[in-house]
Amino acid sequence: MEAFADQIRQRVHARYPLVYVQSLEEQRVEEQLAGLAEEEGYTLHTWSCTQGFDGRGQGADPLQALDEISGCEEKAIFLMRDYHPFIGAPGQTNPQICRRLRDLAQELASKSVTVVFVSPAALVRVPEELADDIVVLDFPLPALAELGSILDRQTSNLRSRVHLDAATRDRFLRSLLGLTAKTAERAIRRAIVNDGRLDDADIVLVQEEKRQVIRRTGVLEYYPAEETIQDIGGLDLLKGWLRSRGRAFTEEARRHDLPWPRGLALIGVQGCGKSLVAKSIASLWQLPLLRFDVGRVFGGLVGESEANIRTAINVSEALSPCILWIDELDKAFAGLRSYQGDSGTQMRVFGSFITWLQEKQRPVFVAATANNPQELPPELLRRGRIDETFFVDLPSQPEREEIFRVHLGKQRQDPARFDIRRLSEATEGFSGAEIEQIVIDARFLAFFEGTQAETEHLAAQIAGDPERDIEPFVPLSSMMSEQIEELRAWSVGRARRASRQEPGSIPEMPAGGRRAIDL
Ligand SMILES: Nc1ncnc2c1ncn2[C@@H]1O[C@H](COP(=O)(O)OP(=O)(O)OP(=O)(O)O)[C@@H](O)[C@H]1O
Ligand SMILES: [Mg+2]
Repeated sequence: MEAFADQIRQRVHARYPLVYVQSLEEQRVEEQLAGLAEEEGYTLHTWSCTQGFDGRGQGADPLQALDEISGCEEKAIFLMRDYHPFIGAPGQTNPQICRRLRDLAQELASKSVTVVFVSPAALVRVPEELADDIVVLDFPLPALAELGSILDRQTSNLRSRVHLDAATRDRFLRSLLGLTAKTAERAIRRAIVNDGRLDDADIVLVQEEKRQVIRRTGVLEYYPAEETIQDIGGLDLLKGWLRSRGRAFTEEARRHDLPWPRGLALIGVQGCGKSLVAKSIASLWQLPLLRFDVGRVFGGLVGESEANIRTAINVSEALSPCILWIDELDKAFAGLRSYQGDSGTQMRVFGSFITWLQEKQRPVFVAATANNPQELPPELLRRGRIDETFFVDLPSQPEREEIFRVHLGKQRQDPARFDIRRLSEATEGFSGAEIEQIVIDARFLAFFEGTQAETEHLAAQIAGDPERDIEPFVPLSSMMSEQIEELRAWSVGRARRASRQEPGSIPEMPAGGRRAIDL
């Protein structure tokens, strides 16, 4: 919030005529502006199309309102509520209002008057013709301290119902991060009403509320961190890096003023654990995990791309320190290139995202995954935006052993009962995802035959078994050898290896193999 207060103060001092603030939280914006006006000797006026100026009913007409502002001779800040529909969307702007705004910007240049438009994040797009006259500011969601005051206010008459010790209170407040002041208030009230008391059991409730609120952004999803680093077989160098960087989030690292890790790109072969690693960072570092669907932003599915990207940035900064997981980044940018419509906007949105990656002050760790680095704009992988690019290849034989152990364990099978060495040797060129599938298929087979799963069931799924009508499993790599070779060549000098070991080699495509996964 400090940052916003400073930014708006600077603009007002520098006589910026028109400022656009994207926020659903009119009330909080007004409080900030009222504080600023009082400190700096400005008068704050508010306007809405139903109440006109300062609730007096005058000047409710949107065009007339601008004339009145133009005539203002005092030091003043005008807060305009929901003015955006009168400006219109890009391409469909109201010509009179836009022209009047441009004139107004000129007229106010010599006066100490700033007009601040506040409107909900999802509706704002500055039309081209006003781009030079309006500055857009982000309004951050409430931080911990502010949430603390909200909690105190909401519970001031209900002290006897609040059962939070210091640590639980902190966890409770953290679970409110990412919500607006109003939704936080509502969540607190609901948490009290449901059973008459506020205690640690309510944290789950609030988190659920938050998950829903965040999903409504259309581009972000709040993920429970279920995968752990123990679920990953192999990839020792990558896991080592993650363990060492995780320490940067500790109190001790804060005391030594270590910089926050910025991000990580995981590039590599399909099904070898890129997404799995990205998810497991959250539990390793004990941070919340947000999945950001950039494809929906750039692909134009949700529309309003500028507002969407700002929402994503805003929510992730409010939740920071957190992990912002961007899966299949290459697909998002493939969409960007083929996007036919308003590609100028798309490029601008991409530019603002890149700038944020570079300049972000808050500890939002970006974990991006991609199969095809050639699809990515090269500037994305530059250092300064992310810390490191890792290349994730097919697992080696010892790594496949580890992966078998992980998935047998997950299927509640005791790995000691299986000849893991033999299985790992029979699965040259298989990905982690394929090994997982073998284990699951073998369990079905054993179940069908009314026995416990044995090595033999897994071996049948791998090599095929004519007597059981099972065909040999053809790993995807055998059909994608060219792409994988290309990827490997790309990675040299551009990415760090995720594993110390030589990767699995790509098997020949067998003549009769038909059990391939559909491409
Ligand atoms: N190294 C591994 N250790 C354990 N399990 C693995 C490993 N690699 C893959 N798996 C299993 O395969 C599943 C799919 O892998 P994941 O989604 O992480 O692959 P990916 O590299 O992201 O693939 P894609 O490029 O297709 O997105 C995982 O959820 C996990 O169950
Ligand atoms: Mg993936």
